[in-house]
Amino acid sequence: MKKLAIQPDIKKAATLPASFYRNAEFFEASKEKIFASHWNFATESQSIAEPGQVYPFTLLEGVLDEPLVLTHDQNGQKHCLSNVCTHRGNLVAMQPGKARMLSCGYHGRCFRLDGTFKSMPAFEGVEDFPTAADHLTPVSFEEWLGLIFVSLNPVASFEEMTRPMRDRLNWLPLNTLHLVEEGTTDYHVNAHWALYCDNFLEGFHIPFVHPALNAAIDFGQYAYEIFPHCNLQIGIADEGQPHFEVPEGHPDFGRKIYAYYYWMFPNLMFNFYPWGLSLNVVEPQGLQKTRIRFRTYQYKGTTHQRSLNSLEATELEDEAVVESVQRGIRSRYYHSGRFSPAMEQGVHHFHSLLAKTLF
Ligand code: FES
Ligand SMILES: [Fe+2]
Repeated sequence: MKKLAIQPDIKKAATLPASFYRNAEFFEASKEKIFASHWNFATESQSIAEPGQVYPFTLLEGVLDEPLVLTHDQNGQKHCLSNVCTHRGNLVAMQPGKARMLSCGYHGRCFRLDGTFKSMPAFEGVEDFPTAADHLTPVSFEEWLGLIFVSLNPVASFEEMTRPMRDRLNWLPLNTLHLVEEGTTDYHVNAHWALYCDNFLEGFHIPFVHPALNAAIDFGQYAYEIFPHCNLQIGIADEGQPHFEVPEGHPDFGRKIYAYYYWMFPNLMFNFYPWGLSLNVVEPQGLQKTRIRFRTYQYKGTTHQRSLNSLEATELEDEAVVESVQRGIRSRYYHSGRFSPAMEQGVHHFHSLLAKTLF
C-alpha cells in the first residue's frame, strides 16, 4: 500500500490523491485503523433507559460487523458487551427488550447483565471452568447528549475528543434533547464515505450548491476552527434569520450564530441549531456506497422552529454534488487538487488525520 502524507502547511499542501478513494486496500485498512479505533454512534440512551433493558446491535454493519449488546443491569449500571456466546459463538441476545439475564439459545449458557458467566448445562467435570474467558467481553462506550457511542479500541478518550464541543456549548440545554421521529431517516449516497465528509467540511460550496442556505447566512462571516480530533464551522445568521441567544460572558456573545457545525473524526457530524441537534453519521457500505444516518433531536420546550424541509433540501443538494465528484475522481485525468487556505481548512484537517491514522 503506497504511503500517503499531507503537507502540514495548507498553502503548500495537496489533497489526498484520487487513488485513496478508488483503492480497495485503503478502504480495507480503514476498517481497523479508522473505524475500530474511533467512536461510533450506536443508539439513543433511551434504548436502555430502564434496569433490565437489553439492546443488541451490530456495530457499523458492512464494515466492522461487530455483534454487541447494550445492557442496563439491576444495580443501575449500564454495559456494552460482546454479543457472542463464549461457548461456540452463537449470538446471544436477539431482540431488544427486558430480560433478567442473557441466555444463549443454542445450548443454554447464561450470563448476568454485566456480562459475567452465570451457568451452563452439562458442563460438570470440565476442568478449569469457568474462567474470565467465559464472560462476555466488555466494550468501551460513552453517553453524551442522550446518545451512546461505542469504540472497540479507542486511540483517544471520548472525553478528550468531544471536549471542544462540551466546553463551547455547556450553556445549552443539551440534557433535554429528545428524538424527533419525522427528522430521522437514512440517506444512501453512491460515493466513497470520505467524499461525503470532504464536502461537509467546507462551506466554500454554499453559494454554488445551496441557494436557500446561502440566503439564510452571512457568507462573508463564515468561520472555521480546528481542534485535535474535531473541527467547527460557524454560520452567522443573515438579517431576520433565527440565531442562538448566546449568554453574556461567553466567547460567542454578540455573534448571531445560525449554526455550529461540528465534525468529529472520522464520521460524526453534530449540527447544533437554536432548536436542537441534527446528527449525521456517515457509514461506509462499500467503496462507493455510503449510508448517512440522519437523526434529529430537539430541546425540550424550545420555541424555535425546526426547519426539516430545508435540512432535507440541503442534503439532496450535497448528495448530488458528492455523487458527481465520485464520478470525477475515477477519471484518468484527475489526480489531486490544492486547498483554499481561507475556505478548506477543515478538509485539510480531515486529510491530515486520515493520512496520519492510516500510516
Ligand atoms: S453457543 Fe451458546 S451455549 Fe453453545
Ligand atoms: Fe453542503
